[in-house]
Amino acid sequence: MMNKRFLEGMYPWHWVYQLRNSLDFPLRSLISWKRPLPALEKSTNSLPISCFPYPIQGQAKTLIQQFHLNELPLSFTDFQLGVNCYYLDVLTQVFSTIKVEWGATLRAADVGPSDWFYLPALVQFLSYHQALQAREVSLEGFEIDPYRVYADLHSRFDHAQQQCTAFPGVIYHPRAFHEQPEKYDVLIQFFPFLFLKDHLEWGLPRSLFDPEKLFGSLASSLKPGGTWVILNQGNAEHTLQKELVAVSGLKILTAFEFQSVYKHYEKSHWAMVITK
Ligand SMILES: C[S@@+](CC[C@H](N)C(=O)[O-])C[C@H]1O[C@@H](n2cnc3c(N)ncnc32)[C@H](O)[C@@H]1O
Repeated sequence: MMNKRFLEGMYPWHWVYQLRNSLDFPLRSLISWKRPLPALEKSTNSLPISCFPYPIQGQAKTLIQQFHLNELPLSFTDFQLGVNCYYLDVLTQVFSTIKVEWGATLRAADVGPSDWFYLPALVQFLSYHQALQAREVSLEGFEIDPYRVYADLHSRFDHAQQQCTAFPGVIYHPRAFHEQPEKYDVLIQFFPFLFLKDHLEWGLPRSLFDPEKLFGSLASSLKPGGTWVILNQGNAEHTLQKELVAVSGLKILTAFEFQSVYKHYEKSHWAMVITK
C-alpha cells in the first residue's frame, strides 16, 4: 500500500505556496492569457548542430536524420535542438530495450506537456520508430496549467499552439486529463508530480493533487496491449512510481536509470514503460 504521508510530505514554507497557488492558479485560469505567436517557418539555415560539443555532433546528426527532424517546417534555437535531441535520445534508449508492435496509425496522449517544447521529438519518434514511412499519428496533449505567462508575455498555451502548427494531427487541450476508456495506443507522462512538494512548487493548488486518481484514469484510457512511457526524477520518485504500477496490476516492460549526452541533470532520471 502506498505511504500517503511520504507522498504528501511538505516543508513549512509550503503553506506559503499553498496560499499563493490557491489564489493565483484560479486567477490564471480565469484570465486564460492567449496572445497568438506567428506560425513557425522553416529556417533557411541548417540546424544549429554546433550547439553540441564537437565529439557528439556526428551522433546528433545521425539522430536528427533518423527521425527527420531536419525536414520539419520549423526552425530550432540551440536550446530547442538540445532538448529535442535529449527526448529523442531517451525514447530511442527506452525502446531499444523492448519490442512494440505499432501499426500504421497511432493514437497517443501526453499528460502534462507544459508548453510542449519537446513536441517535434515526440511526434517524430512516434511517427518513425521502426518505420521507414511515417505512420499517421494523432496526439493529444492535456495540460492542467496552460495559462502560465512567460517573460515574453506569451503563455504556455501560445507556445504550445505555435509548435502545433507544424503538426496537423496534434491537439493541445488546455485542461486536465480525463478518463477515456481504452482510447489510446500510447500514453506519455514525462516527469509527472508524485510528491505534493513538487506539485506545490510548480504552482498547482493542493486540491488538484491526486496522483493515484490520475494514474487510474490513465490506466483505464490505455488500450489493452498499449504502451505507456513514464519518466521520473530521482530514485525516490521512480520507486514510488513502481509502487503505483504494482498496485494497479499493470505490467512493467522495462525500467532503468538513463543518461543522455545531450543534457545533464543533477537529479537522476529514470524511465519506465508499462502495458496492460
Ligand atoms: C514536471 S512538469 C513536466 C513537463 C514536461 N512534460 C517535461 O517533460 O518537462 C508536469 C506537468 O504536468 C502538468 N499536470 C499535472 N497534473 C496534470 C493533470 N492532471 N492533467 C494534465 N496536466 C497535469 C503540470 O501542470 C506540469 O506542466
